Amino acid sequence: MTDAAALHDLIDLSGRRAFVTGGGKGIGRAIATRLVEAGATVTVGDLDEAAERAAEEIGATFARCDITDAAALSSAIEAAAGDDGLDIMVNNAGIFPTTGPMTAASDDFVSRMLEVNVRAQFSACRDAANRMPHGGVIVNLASIAGLRGGANISAYSASKAAMIALTRAFAIELGPRGIRVNAIAPGVIDTPGVQDQMGPLKASGVDIAKIISGNPLGLTGQPDHIARVALFLASDLAAFVSGHTLVVDGASTA
Ligand SMILES: NC(=O)c1ccc[n+]([C@@H]2O[C@H](COP(=O)([O-])OP(=O)(O)OC[C@H]3O[C@@H](n4cnc5c(N)ncnc54)[C@H](O)[C@@H]3O)[C@@H](O)[C@H]2O)c1
Repeated sequence: MTDAAALHDLIDLSGRRAFVTGGGKGIGRAIATRLVEAGATVTVGDLDEAAERAAEEIGATFARCDITDAAALSSAIEAAAGDDGLDIMVNNAGIFPTTGPMTAASDDFVSRMLEVNVRAQFSACRDAANRMPHGGVIVNLASIAGLRGGANISAYSASKAAMIALTRAFAIELGPRGIRVNAIAPGVIDTPGVQDQMGPLKASGVDIAKIISGNPLGLTGQPDHIARVALFLASDLAAFVSGHTLVVDGASTA
């Protein structure tokens, strides 16, 4: 790639193979959609049966897998990589149940959070990197919760802070192999997961639309706001960007 590369070539992902975890809905689905649009061959890995239909709708291949099932995740990544190798890995699948007061959090709750949001992400990054013989890109979904504290979300915050730390560490280790590793830290995004989480608030009469758009831009955070940034990081537009966590939150944390 030269400095004079044309814009459409920089964003063109034709011939590249991508894997998106949790691509059945929400942010993951939006990212998978944008990657397909840019020409990539995309596999969506998700534990939800409905994700198969979603993958079909956007022109992606579906691999049913729970990211905490190491063997299933590894073989799904292997299949997505094919003989030529994987180019793009998006570690999006994650959980965000409210921790509640830290004084009442059970060890099982904390272990589960770290199992899904850290241990499985580490394994996914490792397995993807091992399938990237020609270099590649890893995009991890962190959160603004990993950058600042917050009441009742301590275990989630810890898991996303770990994701940011892993992103930096992996970028340094994998850089010499031509693999860029970055993270995105979204603010509140209107997804099925967030709607579920805010269900009790909604039921008690709280205007959750107001909470979701409660950022200085006054915008409702949409999955595609995050997908556009993921596309940037996955493309050659971001050729010199690695080890970075890009905050996408309408200035919530500014
Ligand atoms: N929505 C937000 O406000 C927000 C903010 C910051 C960070 N994030 C992060 O973005 C990511 C996606 O969030 P979302 O709001 O789109 O979530 P969502 O709950 O709407 O969708 C998550 C998808 O991941 C899949 N999934 C969950 N656990 C899985 C597992 N163990 N194995 C395979 N698939 C699994 C689900 O089936 C679903 O399709 C998460 O990592 C989340 O922490 C979200």
